[in-house]
Amino acid sequence: MNLATDGRTRQLQDAFQAFNRLSEQLEGSYRELEQRVQRLNEELAAARSERLRQLAEKERLAERLQKLLSALPAAVVVLDGKDCIQECNPAALALLGEPLLGRPWSEVHLRAVGVASSGAPEVVLKNGRVVSVTRRPLESEPGSIVVLQDVTEVRAMQDTIHRNQRLSAMGEMAAGMAHQIRTPLATALLYVSQLGRSDLRADDRRRFADKVLARLRHMESQVNDMLSFAKGGRFGMEVLSVKEFLDEARASLETQLRPLQANFVLENIADGRLTANKEALLGVLGNLADNAANARPQGLHLTLRAELDADAHLLLRVCDNGPGMASETLERIFDPFFTTRSEGTGLGLAVVQAVIQAHNGQVGVHSRPGKGTEFTITLPLREAPAACHETEYRRAS
Ligand SMILES: Nc1ncnc2c1ncn2[C@@H]1O[C@H](COP(=O)(O)OP(=O)(O)OP(=O)(O)O)[C@@H](O)[C@H]1O
Ligand SMILES: [Mg+2]
Repeated sequence: MNLATDGRTRQLQDAFQAFNRLSEQLEGSYRELEQRVQRLNEELAAARSERLRQLAEKERLAERLQKLLSALPAAVVVLDGKDCIQECNPAALALLGEPLLGRPWSEVHLRAVGVASSGAPEVVLKNGRVVSVTRRPLESEPGSIVVLQDVTEVRAMQDTIHRNQRLSAMGEMAAGMAHQIRTPLATALLYVSQLGRSDLRADDRRRFADKVLARLRHMESQVNDMLSFAKGGRFGMEVLSVKEFLDEARASLETQLRPLQANFVLENIADGRLTANKEALLGVLGNLADNAANARPQGLHLTLRAELDADAHLLLRVCDNGPGMASETLERIFDPFFTTRSEGTGLGLAVVQAVIQAHNGQVGVHSRPGKGTEFTITLPLREAPAACHETEYRRAS
């Protein structure tokens, strides 16, 4: 009996001990769980406050961007994927007038500028303001952003600066010109004073008259150069047919080169229409022919070739068989007053460049000593023409 009681007591003790161990383990796990919950709560709170901080920062940035956009002197217009105005700043409202929001950009452009948008980088508004237009696609979404900047004052200032530069160049030149003109003037006066003599033979009279005429023409061309240079880009323009212009150029160059017995060739494989000042362009070709004649007074071969370049612009090539130029000379030939001739004013090519630039064209030159010189002039045409094939050969003499 006692034995049986002892056995049960031990069993109970074992069971208690096992129960105690389990309780301890459970208690440990529960504490661990509690700690983990505590840690998670802390992490959650930290994440929430970081997110709140980020949101506040974003809001602050958005507000700052809005303020900057409002304060920006340039007009900013945001277009959606359908080219309708989604957003704009106060400067845009002031420049383009209301209504803007929701309106198609093409309609607003037409209203403010008077013509449909052509993507030109600079436009003149109906109110006379000159505005530069930059358009860029939005990268993150469909649509684009258009920035318009009023450059009226800047352009006016640039015009004044250019005019002042030309005027000061004119001033510098005036003294030189007076000197240049004085010599042919004195010669002309001398010959004219002789013309009145009753004992003068008829052929001498004719010879003297020719000399006076030549001197006066020389002076006239110098004065014309000076005026073209002073005028800069402000020429009256007309629409010219390339063929008709080249016909006139041929007649004028033949007359100019006839006294030199020069060989002159016109090759024309171009057609189309130009917006140009005819007299100024004829003056350009006259200047180039004059230079070729000065470089090679005897045995001159001059070619004027007209063609279309890869961009369908009119390309004029004026080619001579003169002595060519060394690179040091070439670098300076378009500088006003650069000349290698004792009788030159160095204005001829400066005028050529100014006139061609005023026609939105470009002048280039290729030359090597002993290999002749080729001047190239590129001029935009009014519309892309169909090329024609026609070659004309004429002698100036
Ligand atoms: N076809 C050419 N061949 C060789 N040299 C040339 C040619 N064209 C121009 N030059 C050089 O370029 C210089 C500048 O030419 P530019 O026409 O500007 O002035 P210029 O002929 O000297 O004087 P101006 O034309 O005012 O009477 C010339 O003095 C000459 O040295
Ligand atoms: Mg010249």
